[in-house]
Amino acid sequence: MTEKFTLNVNGKTQTVEADPDMPLLYALRNDLGLNNPHFGCGLAQCGACTVHMDGNVIRSCVTPISSVGDTKVVTLAGLGTPEKPHPVQKAYVEEQVPQCGYCINGWVMTAAALLERNKKPTDAQIKDALTGLKCRCGTHMAIMRAVKRAATMMG
Ligand code: FES
Ligand code: FES
Repeated sequence: MTEKFTLNVNGKTQTVEADPDMPLLYALRNDLGLNNPHFGCGLAQCGACTVHMDGNVIRSCVTPISSVGDTKVVTLAGLGTPEKPHPVQKAYVEEQVPQCGYCINGWVMTAAALLERNKKPTDAQIKDALTGLKCRCGTHMAIMRAVKRAATMMG
């Protein structure tokens, strides 16, 4: 049976009617039209669906909508705008990271959360934070350069 859920997404309050077990990812993409979090594996294995909940990275493909409550959800679209990109978004463009781009949401959202709590991460800390994200196009070296570039911008 469906229920109504009030979500705070990218600073806006919006209501979604859904089965309580429905993944947050489906609400974001299908109900709210926010297509940056991608469906990759659906099993918490790739990170393509990553969003922030109260500043923490979560995998929205395995997060039931009923568990979101009044936490503040931020998607890639809420991180920055084309006119005023987040430093990580700016650095990804400057380092020309994306190939197919399918995975990028997860890397950017995870790097942004890392730099929020650690402005000067070491290479090891960056690698540790990004563990578990997958890129089939092999952009890993460019991603490292972009995260370090973003850290410099924010430092
Ligand atoms: S789609 Fe969520 S982790 Fe892969
Ligand atoms: S850029 Fe294609 S999967 Fe990462």
